[in-house]
Amino acid sequence: PPAPPNVMIIFGAGGDLTKRKLVPALYHLSNARLLPESFVMLGLDRLDMDDDGFRNLMGEQIRDHVGEVFEEDVWTKLCERLQYMKIDMLSGPDYELLCERLSRIDAERGTEGNYLFYMAIPPSLFSKVADHLGDVGLLHETEDDWRRVIIEKPFGRDLDSAIALNNHLHKNLDEDQIYRIDHYLGKETVQNIMVFRFANGFIEPLWNRHHIDHVQITVAESVGVEHRGAYYEEAGAMRDMIPNHLLVLLGFLAMEPPNSFEAHAMRDEVNKVLDAITPLTPEQVLTHAVRGQYGAGTMPNGEQVMAYRASNGVDPNSHTETFAALKLGMDNWRWAGVPFYLRTGKRLTAQYTEIAIQFKKAPTIMFQDTEVDELEPDMVVLRIQPNEGIQMSLGAKIPGPTMRIGTVNMDFCYEDYFGNKPATGYETLIYDCMKGDATLYKHADTVEKGWEIVQSVLDVWSALPPREFPNYAAGTWGPAAAGNLLREDGRLWRRIQ
Ligand code: BG6
Repeated sequence: PPAPPNVMIIFGAGGDLTKRKLVPALYHLSNARLLPESFVMLGLDRLDMDDDGFRNLMGEQIRDHVGEVFEEDVWTKLCERLQYMKIDMLSGPDYELLCERLSRIDAERGTEGNYLFYMAIPPSLFSKVADHLGDVGLLHETEDDWRRVIIEKPFGRDLDSAIALNNHLHKNLDEDQIYRIDHYLGKETVQNIMVFRFANGFIEPLWNRHHIDHVQITVAESVGVEHRGAYYEEAGAMRDMIPNHLLVLLGFLAMEPPNSFEAHAMRDEVNKVLDAITPLTPEQVLTHAVRGQYGAGTMPNGEQVMAYRASNGVDPNSHTETFAALKLGMDNWRWAGVPFYLRTGKRLTAQYTEIAIQFKKAPTIMFQDTEVDELEPDMVVLRIQPNEGIQMSLGAKIPGPTMRIGTVNMDFCYEDYFGNKPATGYETLIYDCMKGDATLYKHADTVEKGWEIVQSVLDVWSALPPREFPNYAAGTWGPAAAGNLLREDGRLWRRIQ
């Protein structure tokens, strides 16, 4: 069913996110008839434009971002619902004008006073914008209407600043009005981790320390820092990816079955996983955490790329890491003793996200005289992106008169079953927020627990600046130390061909 009538107000509507993700997501929602008839998207920014100027700006690239399925009449209908208002986000009087504009939209378009504010702006502005909205009463809900705010990461840059941001937001907003977006939660394959585990009877009995040897979570990117040098210098690979996206994957992979798919039930289980992760001691940071920064190199397609330090907006002597790997353990009944290896980096050999679950070896005594061709231990790989799917590798007899064993793969590809449904990942998240369903959003606790896990690493890293950067060439698998993290445990990272 379509979401209830509402106005979606985007702060920072002139930015990249709106054009690349949010408007295309509204397009897909409109096409799927999930937007209400009474709907307006009001873009806010500093640029001088009228509604038509904004519609043209959004229309410029919509075909590219929507892809092959683009239909002119779907766009025409959505376009007519886009409006624009120039605003100085730091000026109080402008918010009075915003109130007037929203009342007018409600009267003309029947949007019933339901407002979804989307902060597509730098995090330093979140609290200030929320204060201004609060001052003019725009965050005040009544029995007849709702007010919600979506904020994008980063939610702070460490534990203290995340707590301060949450406290500040809570001055004007109740926790259930705040929707913290982590776009990994909008990915179909991430949501499918739960379906794979909890809708298939044969998986769950094996999903524990008795059968699983270890888990590898890889978010590899072949892209560099692109136009985001200035942001990335402040963030680095650890802050940018681990407390948020990688821990989302880990949370879904390791959680106990929740009682329902409701926001509070899911949140409690994810938080229990995060609580069970043993924070690294400063000594362990030296052996269980690896950082790297790429130098110039050649990508597999032959492209020569420059070093991180030569990127726009980056200090030529930068100590910011573009690669991070961690070995974590969990103190709970299900996972005690099972290592979870996490890695992420820019300018690596390939662009993919996957979770590889390595099962313990079967006792193969009966095959000890058998010729074994590259027998890999049983593994389940959840391919999050691209080529979304699930793969299981198994030992099988190679046909022939002698007993030979090799590894075979059973492979499920989303595309074979469900076709290629283009989506930005934001559709479900925006639609859920309009309906008031926070299941796929992050609660303040979850954000703070994510920071707690990485804080000891950040502290040691900032106290001991690296001397050896850059320590991996673009187009490789990252620094050698990342390989050693597993090799010392007698294991190897799974490589994709
Ligand atoms: C963002 C990070 O949150 O996620 C980027 O800031 C990163 O640095 C991106 O490239 C990865 O997202 P995806 O969906 O391409 O895996």
